[in-house]
Amino acid sequence: MAFLGYLTLILVIIHFAIPLLYFVCLRRRVEDLWKLEIRNDYEPKIAVIVPTYNEAPRIKERLENIKNQNYPRKKLRVIVVDSASIDKTAEIARNWASKNRSLKVKVIEEGERRGKILALNYAFKHVPENTDVVIFTDADCKWKMDALKNAAKYFSDTSVGAVTCCIYPYEDLGKGLEDTYRYYNNMVRVAESKIWSTPIAHGPFLAFRRILLWKMGRLPTWSKADDSTPASLVVFMGYRAIAAPDVIAYEYVPVSLKGNLVRRIRRAQHLIQHFLRTRKKVREMGLEPRKPFKYIFQMEKFLHIVNPWILLSAAAPLLILVFVYELYFGLLLAGMVGLGVSVSKTLRMWLLTQVVLAYAFLKNLFGETEMWEPIRESRG
Ligand code: GDD
Ligand code: MN
Repeated sequence: MAFLGYLTLILVIIHFAIPLLYFVCLRRRVEDLWKLEIRNDYEPKIAVIVPTYNEAPRIKERLENIKNQNYPRKKLRVIVVDSASIDKTAEIARNWASKNRSLKVKVIEEGERRGKILALNYAFKHVPENTDVVIFTDADCKWKMDALKNAAKYFSDTSVGAVTCCIYPYEDLGKGLEDTYRYYNNMVRVAESKIWSTPIAHGPFLAFRRILLWKMGRLPTWSKADDSTPASLVVFMGYRAIAAPDVIAYEYVPVSLKGNLVRRIRRAQHLIQHFLRTRKKVREMGLEPRKPFKYIFQMEKFLHIVNPWILLSAAAPLLILVFVYELYFGLLLAGMVGLGVSVSKTLRMWLLTQVVLAYAFLKNLFGETEMWEPIRESRG
């Protein structure tokens, strides 16, 4: 009986100790200086690609936000790639473009919806040859005014291949757990970037040195993580993919718990696929990662795929212990967990994430859906 107790305890300790240690190590690195030669006045030619599928309520605001960036408009062009939306997204975008000629916007349309990645690759054909940096951005987000300018400067160092943002929940909508989740997430991403690179990137703002996308032969279709996977490929190609603290994007967070969960499960599914497939593909391409990134990648893979199951498997000996031997012990424990969860937002966020990751893993096992439905309410 004591054995079951120890087993539970050890599993729980392992589950928490590893990420905690990683976090403590990273925390000291957040304040490090970038080991990069950054020229603050660097202003490359940029093409921003906005993929849309039924984004009619959002698209104008999105374009407006890009137009209002403090970046020279003559060095900027926008490509909206719409995949047969049924709500006139393309028409609205075109109208907006004709009324706002100071920003060069091109709207292209696909005849049918084939998913975000194929749409981005299609749009890529329309990126002018003299473009230095290509940025992908979702329609349901907003950049801080200086995001573009701040991101651009990192590309003045030739070792930088990709730059992604830190994400914050959209002003009033973002409440509760999403805040906590993002706080840790951003911190870890930036710290990994300062060490070398982060294996996780974000759809709301993801910038690439154009030539690398071209070398890559477009975005890979074997992973649904259309943000993290190409960013990691850039690192395997020998460049850095960094999340910058001064490149900030706000994202609409679904208000209902259900909408939030659906989205988080989907993203977790994509990330798991990314961690499972990318290394293998990279090996097939004959590429090898540099040391620090290899370890960062391994650690994140462990945290996203294995670690949730360590916690869940602790439930087995615990349940036997409680139901077969000690009911009181079980009640006591349930009370303690309940207390912890109600007091600590971080613990709540952590546990929810573990369940989401485990569920997403199972869902991946039983086959994924090809196309995802946009979560309507998140469109505000
Ligand atoms: N052209 C086109 N075609 N655009 C599409 C399609 C499509 O088939 N499907 C989705 N999009 C567009 C949406 O209109 C939006 O601008 C962007 O792609 C992201 O779609 P969301 O529906 O907002 O995705 P999400 O917020 O749940 O997913 C997030 O995580 C994904 C990775 O797991 C986003 O950041 C995605 O960009 C990211 O790929
Ligand atoms: Mn979205």
